[in-house]
Amino acid sequence: MIAVNPERFLADLHRLREFGAAGVGKGVVRPAYSEADIAARDWLAGRMREAGLVPHLDPVGNLFGLAEGRSILLGSHSDSQPEGGWLDGALGVIAALEVARASVEAGGPPVSVVSFQDEEGRFGVTTGSAIWSGNLSLDDADRQTDREGVRFAEARAGIAERAGEFVDPGRFTGFVEMHIEQGPWLYEAGEAAGVVTDIVGIRDMRITYDGEQNHAGTTPMHRRRDAFQGLARFNALLNDRLRNVVTPQTVWTIGHVRLHPDAHSIVPGRAVFSMQWRDGDADRLRRMEEIIRATAAEVAQEAGLSVSFGDMLGLEPMPMDETLRDALCDSAEAVAPGRWRRMQSGALHDATNVARLMPAAMLFVPSIDGISHAFAEDTAEADLVTGLEVLAGAVGRAGG
Ligand code: GLV
Ligand code: MN
Ligand code: MN
Repeated sequence: MIAVNPERFLADLHRLREFGAAGVGKGVVRPAYSEADIAARDWLAGRMREAGLVPHLDPVGNLFGLAEGRSILLGSHSDSQPEGGWLDGALGVIAALEVARASVEAGGPPVSVVSFQDEEGRFGVTTGSAIWSGNLSLDDADRQTDREGVRFAEARAGIAERAGEFVDPGRFTGFVEMHIEQGPWLYEAGEAAGVVTDIVGIRDMRITYDGEQNHAGTTPMHRRRDAFQGLARFNALLNDRLRNVVTPQTVWTIGHVRLHPDAHSIVPGRAVFSMQWRDGDADRLRRMEEIIRATAAEVAQEAGLSVSFGDMLGLEPMPMDETLRDALCDSAEAVAPGRWRRMQSGALHDATNVARLMPAAMLFVPSIDGISHAFAEDTAEADLVTGLEVLAGAVGRAGG
């Protein structure tokens, strides 16, 4: 049995939140490669070393704390959304650190720790683990840009001096990621833990409408080629057309919009926006793509605009490993009898990528009011500790 130390775990979790602490409550702004992100990784590397692990930064900023020999790998990510909470990713990293540390103290199995880089997709979709797993080539990743036009290649050049090689995945026996649920189900049911059965797939791309920039006072409505009007029409038509192919679990989001030149008195000549959709079925994702592309092109044609599509990034739907899942279920039943469930993940996670390399599984704890990707994200500390105990119990069962 690996006896974890809840006070030490919570203290580290609160310390990590200080890097990029922002907004009300326990908000965090720590996007990949920001000063706060790099400082947090430096601090984490120190904590890994103190825990008897060897810190190792790879060429894209994934930070590993390596145990000697073959080991199980635990972790998640420590970058945040542009406005995020203190637990998304951070929980899985600090829980991993505590289990690794406690396992050394207990003479338990060797446990390595990872904090992947850019899970939150400043440059794409789970960038660091996607590259490590071979889901995304380094060349393709290097071409990606963030919202301000900064290239991934430029961002990672900032850590090049300190980075070593990519870590050989062959040194790990499996991967377990603990995470907040980020949805309402566990919280509403008063349950303590969720063992993930599978993670939905995602597609994500940028779409650009180009029209004609002109004067907002003098350009008659019938002569306008207004890129925003195109976007608005596209959104309305798309919601209507997707209805035929989606299920209640399917989701799609336009979360980022940039109008050019973004001024009250100018008919916008350009609209660049994100288009993201998620579902557990790869075929449905493909059918949605067809509808999205066709609708965008049709609206462009009608509105006198041109349309272009950026690279489409994505992850396939991914089942979790049964043996590791069983270890989590057994541990959940021992720690929180009757207060846990098996469930699908609608959020994406590094575990999707890592599952290409080794058996991978995930554990959820409740999110208060189901809120995440917002400063208000939080989880009761008792639930955080219960999750930590379930994780430690699963590692004890799964062994090295
Ligand atoms: C991960 O943060 C996601 O967007 O699901
Ligand atoms: Mn996350
Ligand atoms: Mn997230």
